[in-house]
Amino acid sequence: MIHAYVEGIGCHAGERVRIKGWVSHLRSSGKIKFVVVRDGTGVVQCVLGPETDAGSFEAFDQLTQETSLVVTGTVREDRRAPGGYELLAENLEIVQRALPFPITPKEHGVAFLMENRHLWLRSSKQHSVIRIRAEVMRACRDYLDGRGFLEVDAPILTPSAAEGTTTLFETEYFGSKAYLSQSGQLYNEATCAAFGRVYCFGPTFRAEKSKTRRHLTEFWMLEPEIAFGTLDDVYDVAEGLVSSVVERILEKRKDDLLNLERDLAPLERVVAPFGRMSYAEARERLAEKGFDVPEGADLGGDEETELSRSFDKPVFIHSYPAKAKAFYMQPDAANPALALCADLIAPEGYGEIVGGSERIYDLALLEQRLVEFGLPREAFEWYLDLRRYGSAPHSGFGLGLERTVAWICGVKHIRETIPFPRLMYRVYP
Ligand code: 4AD
Ligand code: MG
Repeated sequence: MIHAYVEGIGCHAGERVRIKGWVSHLRSSGKIKFVVVRDGTGVVQCVLGPETDAGSFEAFDQLTQETSLVVTGTVREDRRAPGGYELLAENLEIVQRALPFPITPKEHGVAFLMENRHLWLRSSKQHSVIRIRAEVMRACRDYLDGRGFLEVDAPILTPSAAEGTTTLFETEYFGSKAYLSQSGQLYNEATCAAFGRVYCFGPTFRAEKSKTRRHLTEFWMLEPEIAFGTLDDVYDVAEGLVSSVVERILEKRKDDLLNLERDLAPLERVVAPFGRMSYAEARERLAEKGFDVPEGADLGGDEETELSRSFDKPVFIHSYPAKAKAFYMQPDAANPALALCADLIAPEGYGEIVGGSERIYDLALLEQRLVEFGLPREAFEWYLDLRRYGSAPHSGFGLGLERTVAWICGVKHIRETIPFPRLMYRVYP
């Protein structure tokens, strides 16, 4: 007999199948008993009644939340059943009778849920978030693969810093030091000179000593890099990517968005072109609202939230002061104190989801920047080589996966958007 998955159970109406899963909840009404089983793909109600053998009927009393079991029965279409089908059970076999499950339908505190993240992942809302995450990843790859980008992986163990030396995780490396990658960008710059248009997609690490709802110490980043690209390419690709990802989630995972009680209207407005505003304008606008951003300082989370209020779609903030940004950013020829860069701020207070720029491609200027930023030249010799052998303008960006998922799902804290979040005070489970 076939093992059917709940998501495809409709193809088996009238047939005998076997379902393997876990008890979600239990109910009985007179002589009929109901076991609601989840199998990871969905939830189905199994009915114990006259067709059920006596042993299985008795086993019902042994069932506890999350008990693993195999149910054999006939699929019946029933409009009233959740999902439209139910299983008339003949036999129910307990695989393991679960101990009292720590996470019950009552409300639990966040600390408790985080400590039990390995079990919390079985809950329906967490399910929706993680399914949306997987679809966002797929949509990102589809978008870039469909536009001639090649996925080329970047290493995680690296000899140097990409995004500032204050957030580096250091590790002992056979008698010398290595660092967990903060960004695959520098390697993308090498691979884009080899393949033209590339992207990497993987975990990145920042020893962020901040306990905000937007920071993880381990997060995933999607990073496209375009040989001969400019800031306009950053705008085009980032805008196209983000709008197509949102469209895909609305199309494919609407039920999950609704399960998360996400208001769909703001997502439906996420169509290109997005807003654009310079750093100077942003500072003025913030000053009117009582935010004092010192000249030359980067924008923080509260400032980003305030700016996003005046737009109903994502907005690019461009032309930041070069000294507030990374060492590799190409200065604006019209005003070298400004960098040719743009950050994309998500609506509804979710902050920066994309950071991108043109990269310095002149050898002498890059050498000078390494000195100004106090970076060790030896570790960057290979990177300087890229400016010695066929250097060309190029640009790219990084999209933070978890911030993007938090925004799309409408979940307040980034910790729910990755299966096992790593935070300043959490590396367990
Ligand atoms: O702006 P960032 O630091 O840019 C870079 O790392 C570039 N090298 C990327 C590139 O051009 N290839 O980071 C990019 C994005 C941010 O916009 C944000 O979405 C996310 O990564 N991010 C974080 N997400 C979660 N937790 C953190 N601690 C994050 N730091 C950055
Ligand atoms: Mg940034």
